Amino acid sequence: MKSNESLIYVIFGASGDLTKRKLVPALYSLFVQNLLPDNFALLGTSRSVFSDEEFRVSMKAAITEFKEIDDISRIDDFVKKIFYQPIKFDDASTYIALKARIQELRKQYNICHNTIFYLSTPPSLYGVIPQHLASVNLNKQTNGWKRLIIEKPFGYDLESALKLKDQLMQDWKEEQLFRIDHYLGKETVQNLLVARFSNGIFEPLWNRNFIHHVEITSAESIGVEKRGNYYDGSGALRDMVQNHLLQVVGLTAMEPPTSLESDSIRHEILKVFQSFRPIKCEEVKDVAVRGQYMSSKIKGKQVPGYREEEGVNPNSNTETYAALKFYIDNWRWGGVPFYIRTGKKLPTRVTEVVIHFRPTPHFLFANESTVQSENQLVIRIQPDEGILLKFGMKTPGAGFEVQTVNMDFHYSDLTAQRIPSAYERLINDAIKGDSTLFARTEEVIEAWKFLMPVLECWKNDKDVPLYGYPAGTWGPEQAQQMFDEPDTTWRSPCKNLTNDGNYCEL
Ligand code: BG6
Repeated sequence: MKSNESLIYVIFGASGDLTKRKLVPALYSLFVQNLLPDNFALLGTSRSVFSDEEFRVSMKAAITEFKEIDDISRIDDFVKKIFYQPIKFDDASTYIALKARIQELRKQYNICHNTIFYLSTPPSLYGVIPQHLASVNLNKQTNGWKRLIIEKPFGYDLESALKLKDQLMQDWKEEQLFRIDHYLGKETVQNLLVARFSNGIFEPLWNRNFIHHVEITSAESIGVEKRGNYYDGSGALRDMVQNHLLQVVGLTAMEPPTSLESDSIRHEILKVFQSFRPIKCEEVKDVAVRGQYMSSKIKGKQVPGYREEEGVNPNSNTETYAALKFYIDNWRWGGVPFYIRTGKKLPTRVTEVVIHFRPTPHFLFANESTVQSENQLVIRIQPDEGILLKFGMKTPGAGFEVQTVNMDFHYSDLTAQRIPSAYERLINDAIKGDSTLFARTEEVIEAWKFLMPVLECWKNDKDVPLYGYPAGTWGPEQAQQMFDEPDTTWRSPCKNLTNDGNYCEL
């Protein structure tokens, strides 16, 4: 639905990669679908000095290269709405100039006071910029709303997250804050809600009586690419688990919300986070495994190890793989282990939630069949979005040999329609003021609280190993030992192993 209100969209960090690759292509895509207001201006701002025209040229090139929609016939109309204003992020006087520019654009293009400020800057500026905006009253909602969209990470640990929360809350209200977790903008992450709450058959089984364990994997085949500098100060737990993976856990484990209102859904996710059983430092070595990829051959080509990557300390102890086992102490999930893992340079790119159901109480076919069928529901978030149900069927012929078969639904079969990117969806939601798919302050704080013992133990306890794993493999073998039963393992999402080793594609 088109927003009828006019709007100025200000991007801080406009000369950066995210603006080029994601933000401006997503805005262009909304523009082509007539989802932006007619009176709209995009004001880029960063330390670099560009004229409006220079910035337009670079944004036009970015849209052409990273476009999310095939139609680029309206690109010239769109770039006419783009402007640029250099800024010194920590210099109060440049915010006066920024405000004057915003006022000039409002007047010139008949735009009301509705304004979005998108922070796509280094996280160290997340406290500073909003404070400066408030000092020139750009947070005041008197003649139109003002919203702040913030990229992750929201803090580096619990202490810094609490500090950031206090800084933001001094001048901004929770309803003005939109913390982007792009996993929540993924179509199939939202589909988790539909799969669970629009089907009568799953929900009655969705609890400790029928579920043996839950497994969530977010694997990437890429390494740290050009982001070594940032990543080396972060690691897999901060980069992926604290936000993306825990949000997926929240949606998988939450109670049915009372409505689709944003507060109702976010409240249920928060309750899940509040029910995480705290991990004690002495348990960390048994319930958390960390690893770092080492040089190896992938598809016949030697690839560098993490410590050889650009921007990475050659003695770095930053983890590129993290696996955790934990419990949610509530009535629905009491005693059900959750296993989550993420890593870079794994054999393939895949994100999936696997619900492992309990086996039948008595396996009638034990004499005829060597394996008991496993009932699993696999919710594939990416790529090849879909749902797969595994169950036992009789192998044709004499006897009762059981084999596990798949009932497989691919999201692509549902529609030939383009699925909007996560950024497109989330930017559109922020314009409409719908915060359902954005992380709330309390969720962020609870997520940090839960992970702090692991982070601290990994930092301080020299006896907790950091395992190496060859790039292109499924991470440290020690992650297999996290399971309660010795014959339980992580699901291997690859269909085919290629013949030159263990690197595979879906
Ligand atoms: C980002 C992380 O938030 O998510 C990256 O900082 C990671 O390290 C990326 O590569 C993964 O996102 P996606 O959408 O490719 O799964």
